[in-house]
Amino acid sequence: MPYLKVSFLFFPLFIFACEKETVVILENKGAVTGTVSAMPQKAGKMPKQMRHCTPCHSIKKGAKNKIGPNLFGVIGREAGLVPGYKYSREYKEGKWLWTRENLDLLINKKYGTLEEAVRKLTGNPKARTKMKFYGAADEDAQKILDYLESLK
Ligand code: HEC
Repeated sequence: MPYLKVSFLFFPLFIFACEKETVVILENKGAVTGTVSAMPQKAGKMPKQMRHCTPCHSIKKGAKNKIGPNLFGVIGREAGLVPGYKYSREYKEGKWLWTRENLDLLINKKYGTLEEAVRKLTGNPKARTKMKFYGAADEDAQKILDYLESLK
């Protein structure tokens, strides 16, 4: 009988402990969901830094070329390959790949001018490009590259 009394005494405490545990688990789940939903953001919303590029470039899959070629899936692609776009000779004949590094070289101010970048990429000291862009600050360039890389 004393045993029963003791367990009665502890019963509410036990429930309380269980409830606490449930709450903790729920909170943990919440935290996990939080991180998971933060991840697709990479592929989702366009960062404001992309406004450096969107006046001249469409970025949606299959969208019409503007002043410049469509940039959907550009990272990993060879230069000068967007159908229906009239590239400058340098780009048309270009054999370089738009790796993240090469695109960084093109748009990031810290590496110098666009012309210098195209000369490095083509290996032609006289190369020119139709693109007019004064370059983005390093942080902005990284945001642009992250976003372009997520477009697949
Ligand atoms: C004022 C217009 C303009 C702006 C702003 C601009 N571009 Fe361009 N871009 C062009 C043009 C025009 C070309 C074609 C170059 C050529 O044929 O010489 C081009 C070409 C490119 C290419 C080569 C694509 C390929 O298929 O080989 C990439 C990559 C590119 N731009 C990225 C960017 C990014 C990223 C930004 C923003 C940071 C940007 N551009 C801003 C006009 C622009």
